[in-house]
Amino acid sequence: MTHNTAPTPHSSTPLTQDELKTLVGQAALQYVVPGEIVGVGTGSTVNKFIDALASMKDQIKGAVSSSVASTERLTALGIKVFDSNEVDRLSVYIDGADEIDGQGNMVKGGGAALTREKIVAAQSAVFVCIADESKLVTTLGKFPLPVEVIPMATRRVIAQFAAMGGSAHIRLKDGNPLVTDNGQYIVDVNGLQITDPLAFESQVSQWPGVVTLGVFAYQRAQVCLLGTADGVKTMKF
Ligand code: 5RP
Repeated sequence: MTHNTAPTPHSSTPLTQDELKTLVGQAALQYVVPGEIVGVGTGSTVNKFIDALASMKDQIKGAVSSSVASTERLTALGIKVFDSNEVDRLSVYIDGADEIDGQGNMVKGGGAALTREKIVAAQSAVFVCIADESKLVTTLGKFPLPVEVIPMATRRVIAQFAAMGGSAHIRLKDGNPLVTDNGQYIVDVNGLQITDPLAFESQVSQWPGVVTLGVFAYQRAQVCLLGTADGVKTMKF
């Protein structure tokens, strides 16, 4: 991994997490290729990127979006959204993460958009992760691992995670199971230490009823723009 840091103007007040997200959202613009379509993730950090992207909307063809929420935000700002099937290959995909390690492996899905995020990441040449420094970990597993599951499989999937030492529960919204953009449930798993993300992703992805696992090792980041107290640190993997 290599990294360098672009300093922020000196200030005595530490930047808030929201300000760090704004910084990395703006920094991600340098990876957007003029004349092309950009892959866009989901979440509060990506919202900062989308807002920044509006400043160059006339220089790009549009975006492929990873969620209904991002599509709505892009469209409201006048950025054309393409269906992923209308597009062959994207040069770059820009998205946040719940955790990222020193090799670019991530846990994602805190916003329940992991399946479409993995699809758009898979059709992109480069994954640029934008995150504040609270997301950097040594080993994945601090953040509850989101897994999108077909509803009839949730009980067995929860039992399978329990057998490997994890404590899993169905994510709720307003007292009912949260339903994803794809009409499925999210199971969040606590208590895992994911020391081999690639092997873990391979294994759990094969369980019947698992739509998508929030471990992004096959679709790991090649670049991470990390918002720190010293400015935006660029990590390359
Ligand atoms: C959504 C995601 C997000 O990228 C992840 O949850 C980070 O979100 P935020 O930028 O709001 O912290 O994976 O499914």
